[in-house]
Amino acid sequence: MLNFFDRSHRQILNLNDFDPVARSFLPRAIYGYVAGGADDGATVQHNLEALSRLKMIPRVLRDVSTCSQQITLFGRRYNSPFMIAPMGASAVVGRDADNAMARAAKNAGIPYALSANAITPMEEIGRSYPGCWFAGYQKPDTENIDAMLGRVEGAGFSAYMLTADVAVGSNRENNNRNGYTMPFRPTARLVADMACHPSWLLKVGLGTYRQRGIPRISNIDPQARPSIFSREINAVTGYPSFSWKHAEFIRSRWKGAFIIKGVLSADDARIAKELGADGIVVSNHGGRQLDCAVSPVEVLSEIRNASGTMTVLVDSGFRRGTDIVKALALGADAVMIGRPFLYAAALGGEAYIRHAIGLLQREIHTDMCLMGATDCDALREERVVGL
Ligand code: FNR
Repeated sequence: MLNFFDRSHRQILNLNDFDPVARSFLPRAIYGYVAGGADDGATVQHNLEALSRLKMIPRVLRDVSTCSQQITLFGRRYNSPFMIAPMGASAVVGRDADNAMARAAKNAGIPYALSANAITPMEEIGRSYPGCWFAGYQKPDTENIDAMLGRVEGAGFSAYMLTADVAVGSNRENNNRNGYTMPFRPTARLVADMACHPSWLLKVGLGTYRQRGIPRISNIDPQARPSIFSREINAVTGYPSFSWKHAEFIRSRWKGAFIIKGVLSADDARIAKELGADGIVVSNHGGRQLDCAVSPVEVLSEIRNASGTMTVLVDSGFRRGTDIVKALALGADAVMIGRPFLYAAALGGEAYIRHAIGLLQREIHTDMCLMGATDCDALREERVVGL
């Protein structure tokens, strides 16, 4: 096998470094699907800018020799204040990527959420990481919701995360430009694109086909498993009539932790709290849904204040230990990270994801010590300026 992976490993010193390596490894259409945002990609950029505008005021001469980055979420102890975000169709990007992410997260002691839009059946992931989280899109009918929640519970997931910011599919022009479509159409351009990336084609494309046959979206509906080539797949691009009353129904039926993902308004955080959610994710979906949405860090403090004792997670553009420390200082309980882990999964599977997790853990440790914080709670009292 080509030694591409070992060579590139040495170049990757932080989470940002995965992007250019993945860009040359992946077919243009696949890289674009992962990296891209909605419309002009303004929010993808804005997420990074908003984080970089924030500056921290460290405290000195505190004994940080016993610094710990462990946290507790929904009654479970985790080793670090970050987790792997749910990403649909991951196993189309990296071979067996959902299992690789689940195993790496489990071994590192951090949470992982499987997307309903994954091609790996949830039962398989439930075995790889018992007690991990499920991120659902949901048909707005109670029978379907009931059947789905039964399946998720039976598969051993401990938390149900409702992805709430996908009322409709967004406008992803970069996908149109690169020829990435759902249903997937193997046009001459796409085949040429893949042929120009033989390492990906052999390791991921054909490997996935050999392992699973034609990829199917496996978790969107308890009955249907539409193939990525079939028209039925259009059914998974958002349910416009899905509303708070369906969220309330899920809450009444789901016994584990219930989390609502995609909240950017303090009023929505209050509604989530009133209906009995255990947590929310302050998120603009990594800039992939509403372009020109605010960045989560711009509204995080306000949402924290509106959330009471609810767990507040945040994502979209977090890459560095300092980004995570900023989020914790602004009141988040933990941070979710998407794209870099998927690039890592594509480039080298579980070993690369472990590498990414380790890099971030080291950065967080250094940054917490330099902030003068011995644990994540201690960061809450530290100051972040530049909002
Ligand atoms: C996503 N995201 C996502 N979210 C979700 O709730 N369900 C899903 O199926 C998906 N699918 C998905 C696919 C891909 C390829 C990406 C990159 C992202 C959004 C994801 O959970 C998270 O909110 C963002 O990825 C966070 O931003 P960063 O860290 O990627 O900048």
